[in-house]
Amino acid sequence: MFGRKKRRSEIDPDRLPEHIGVILDGNGRWAKKRGLPRSAGHSAGADTLKKIVTECNNIGIKYITVYAFSTENWKRPKDEVDFLMNLLLDYLRNAEKTLSGENVVIKAIGSRKELSAEIQEQIVKTEAFTAKNSGIVMNIALNYGGREEIVNAVREIVSDVQSGKTDSDDIDERLFSDYLYTKGQPDIDLLIRTSGEQRLSNFLLWQNSYSELWFTDKLWPDFSVDDLHRAIIDFQSRSRRFGAV
Ligand code: IPE
Ligand code: IPE
Ligand code: MG
Repeated sequence: MFGRKKRRSEIDPDRLPEHIGVILDGNGRWAKKRGLPRSAGHSAGADTLKKIVTECNNIGIKYITVYAFSTENWKRPKDEVDFLMNLLLDYLRNAEKTLSGENVVIKAIGSRKELSAEIQEQIVKTEAFTAKNSGIVMNIALNYGGREEIVNAVREIVSDVQSGKTDSDDIDERLFSDYLYTKGQPDIDLLIRTSGEQRLSNFLLWQNSYSELWFTDKLWPDFSVDDLHRAIIDFQSRSRRFGAV
């Protein structure tokens, strides 16, 4: 306990990452190790998520984006997809109370039209319910794919150029960012991926262009508040040059 408190006190409050991205991975392996169905790992992972978001909010992080379901995850067996969708629906419903009590602003990013009407409605409700909050902004990436996001942005820009709303001469990085799901939010500063995999898996391709990457072998349900502190302290020890000297 002492070690844990000490680590938290090592975090410099003036040099916090503004936006943390999390690829929460390893739920299935966590369950398998215990002889449980993969669904048990997803449920345990949802509990870990609440704990980590709450701690990020306490520390003073402004934005967190968590990868909950990718555009590629539809390839999983139907019963797993159904379980994940129900879990996410529950998460959004409960978040209205629990995370809103923590002052969290919840947003869903990704393509909504493939989601069930029930989830789409719940997203609208949860977003509206938490919009008044002033704490951390939590983006839940749900049916999210980085390439889909970019293609979608291109489509919308073309349509705005055709209708005369946007001038093609004005297209630059700034304008492009405004067509992404994360419009108005800073890029990712610190990207955390659990479970030992070291890849982006189509997560926030544009927004991760200069993020600091942090990997751990821990499986997501085992990821602790102390691990979060470690990642932030490591982030603060790095020299970010953005191409300069
Ligand atoms: C991450 O855990 C959760 C989702 C992708 C929804 P996994 O389900 O990918 O767990 P592993 O990687 O199979 O262990
Ligand atoms: C990435 O994890 C997607 C989410 C965490 C939601 P995956 O487990 O689906 O990624 P791959 O298949 O290992 O790249
Ligand atoms: Mg995985």
